[in-house]
Amino acid sequence: MSLATSAPDAIDRATCAALDAADPLARFRERFALPEGVVYLDGNSLGALPRATPEHLQRVITEEWGTGLIRSWNDAGWFDKPTALGDRIAPLVGAAPGEVVLGDSTSASLFQVVTAAARLRPGRRAIVSERANFPTDLYVLESVQELLGEPGRPLERRLIDDDGPTLDEVLDDDVAVVVLTHVNYRTGRMFDLAEVTRRVHEAGALMVWDLCHSVGAVPVELNAAGADFAIGCTYKYLNGGPGSPSFIWAAARHHGVARPPLTGWHGHARPFDFTVGYEPADGITRFRVGTPQLLAVAGLEASLDLWAEVDLAELREKSLRLTELFICLVDTRLAEWGIEVVTPRQSAQRGSQVALRAGGGARVGGGALRPGDGALTPGDGYALMQALIERGVIGDFRAPDLMRFGFAPLYVTHTDVWDAVAALEDLLRSGSWREPRFARRGAVT
Ligand SMILES: Cc1ncc(COP(=O)(O)O)c(C=O)c1O
Repeated sequence: MSLATSAPDAIDRATCAALDAADPLARFRERFALPEGVVYLDGNSLGALPRATPEHLQRVITEEWGTGLIRSWNDAGWFDKPTALGDRIAPLVGAAPGEVVLGDSTSASLFQVVTAAARLRPGRRAIVSERANFPTDLYVLESVQELLGEPGRPLERRLIDDDGPTLDEVLDDDVAVVVLTHVNYRTGRMFDLAEVTRRVHEAGALMVWDLCHSVGAVPVELNAAGADFAIGCTYKYLNGGPGSPSFIWAAARHHGVARPPLTGWHGHARPFDFTVGYEPADGITRFRVGTPQLLAVAGLEASLDLWAEVDLAELREKSLRLTELFICLVDTRLAEWGIEVVTPRQSAQRGSQVALRAGGGARVGGGALRPGDGALTPGDGYALMQALIERGVIGDFRAPDLMRFGFAPLYVTHTDVWDAVAALEDLLRSGSWREPRFARRGAVT
């Protein structure tokens, strides 16, 4: 059964059930402990809980910590977990063993790699990023600019934007580093990683990729693209759990020369010599800082067992089928309400999430609805999402106007997609989302 051969109007819930029955990844859904009656479309923010995780955490706590005590640093391999698990993340991002290590938060790891990258291009005074990048990336760059600039004269920041300037317009021989997020956190738009890397290198700059919305969502080929550094988080599509550690990738050619700014003892060549001076470890280990958060690491360890079985080509195929199905159903069933798809329709430019905006030109009976006629406005997306969550369809909202739906291919089904769109249509038809309680904002949206 292929979506391409089905007329959009002919797709029904039975079509989706048939797609589920033919899904080679269907067996993974059972490996997650999703609550009954919930359609979970927020794995791009916090991945679902693998069934094996609680038992693994319990074992690490009672046996490794409780019984093993301090001995577990050696006996349970605690000290080497960041590189051992890095090796297991490597195939998911097209990296080689020994090139990936676990970090702290993604933000802290970004600071490590961008500073190290910029130090490899001394004399160049600009850093490039994107205005629509996740804000923490831009905030971190501000510190790097200050740290590596001169007093009163930080490095210059150049931001590309859909409305210009373009990457080619900002690249020149003053650019040290380009820092981009591969799949945009709001729109799900995906850069051509190899092509962007090539253009950055042509300008003599280094390329840093933020893979937060890519790892476990789309295949990534860092080494094939010749990229320089990357970071990503493990609590989204990798299902490591809330606060699971980031990862850092550095191309092997930079290992001996990169100078990360946070020089802690776990990045030292011989941490247990307790020498007074810092001497960086060889290889990716020099990006480590201090004691890893081992309970969070244990959560990731359990989910990586599951990822070892995943075929990334199958993952991408299913991801595209899910997002295409969602887009198609939104177009055919929700357009009359003025719900528009913001995510690119070309599959090569799409990650594994779709963003919708309310109020994009509702037309009922041929005429445009106007505010006051009950027409949707972009900010209504917030209340719509809260009402949807109350119905058991969980996505999220990103200010000022986007409803985000993430499609984690290991546990989201085609029937889930159908049910989510049906629930949204029902809410729009009944108008029940307009109850004032849905408009009240929580601290986390
Ligand atoms: C693209 C991107 N980069 C960075 C972050 C921030 O990560 P952390 O809170 O782990 O530092 C996020 C969080 O969602 C993100 O989406």
